[in-house]
Amino acid sequence: MDHFVYRDGRLCAEDVSLIRIAEETGTPFYCYSQATIERHYRVFADAFADVDATVCYAVKANSNIAVIGVLARLGAGADVVSGGELKRALTAGIPASRIVFSGIGKTGEELAAALDAGILQINVESEPELELLGQVAADKGVSAPVAIRINPGIDALTHDKIATGKAENKFGIEWTRAHRVYCRAMTMPGIDIVGIAVHIGSQVTDLEPFREAYVRTRDLAALLRADGIAIRRLDLGGGLGIPYGDEPAPSPGEYAAVVKSAIGDLDCHLILEPGRVIAGNAGILVTSVLYVKEGATRRFVVVDAAMNDLMRPALYNAFHGIATVMETPAKTECKEVDVVGPICETGDTFATGRPLPPLKAGDLLAIRAAGAYGAVMSSVYNTRPLVPEVLVRGGDFALVRERLSVDDMLSREVIPNWLKT
Ligand code: LLP
Repeated sequence: MDHFVYRDGRLCAEDVSLIRIAEETGTPFYCYSQATIERHYRVFADAFADVDATVCYAVKANSNIAVIGVLARLGAGADVVSGGELKRALTAGIPASRIVFSGIGKTGEELAAALDAGILQINVESEPELELLGQVAADKGVSAPVAIRINPGIDALTHDKIATGKAENKFGIEWTRAHRVYCRAMTMPGIDIVGIAVHIGSQVTDLEPFREAYVRTRDLAALLRADGIAIRRLDLGGGLGIPYGDEPAPSPGEYAAVVKSAIGDLDCHLILEPGRVIAGNAGILVTSVLYVKEGATRRFVVVDAAMNDLMRPALYNAFHGIATVMETPAKTECKEVDVVGPICETGDTFATGRPLPPLKAGDLLAIRAAGAYGAVMSSVYNTRPLVPEVLVRGGDFALVRERLSVDDMLSREVIPNWLKT
């Protein structure tokens, strides 16, 4: 469910015509709907309202500080994976007491920043990280609230590049070895063990892997408690998938039912880290048609957005719906086209064999479900400036990230002296 709908034949974000935004900002641009973000957050949070839980939005999905700010006002916490994301979350108004720090390669500086900010929890993913954190915390004379992330050895049945819970994945500590690591952590002065963390992958649309991972987590919690280790918090990660096309995806309510039945009556505080399910369908990438080109065997629609702006199709062969901003009249004959960007790689393709109505230069297209892992993963490949982001609320819209200019990019580069003569 989102708030991108046709009104008077034009695609709008809430009450604002995308044509109007395009006239002001130029294309390409990302457009987010605040009402959609709010709705997704509320549906997710409501599904856990009857248990002791904190919803920590996974900032990596869309880290624009305006987007985080929308969620902060609703009482969300944040899951961050870098010192930069920590700063974003704090800047956007998420209280430190609701921030969790995940990730397998935190630096000493990042750990120190997290301790200085006084965040809720640091999820430790390896023994060397535990040792470093213990040292950094002891040097500061504080105790770090720690959950150990376990690798439950479970296939999330998602794209290989975003599965994180299999034994061969780099994440977490193999669950059968976790007991030993907890015992070591209990002896460390700078470490305060508070719980267990698990995250099996992203865009997970089958609830069974979640159930298995959570049952395994519950069993480990019971084992650790039996040894006197006070497990009081379970961080169950994110990963709930969304529909990108017509395929079904479980609702937050169905996911919550699995969590509650798997975790049962452990009497733990739960942390959930949803990212995509909050931001994914709340954003689109609007792009203009540059050319329609007849190839030897295919028809290409060349648009002004490219794989550097939205990497998901190139990186994961991901499907994204593509809609014309002008509503297509009924009975218009659609033809299959490849929608491609200007970058000099064949992989710079948003869609292959996609039925679309006749298009011409200047027509606007909306690439759907681009609110999560869209702008955040963009790059400046081919010296293409990062595109603007716009947030809509009702009939208002605001530019929440300006378009980078080529001069901005060049101003950070330096010609060394030996090339100046
Ligand atoms: N928690 C942890 C520890 C994570 O690693 C992630 C995502 C999340 C929560 C949020 O997962 P979500 O609810 O958004 O599925 N770039 C990829 C997705 C990478 C996900 C990385 N970790 C994509 O475009 O599909």
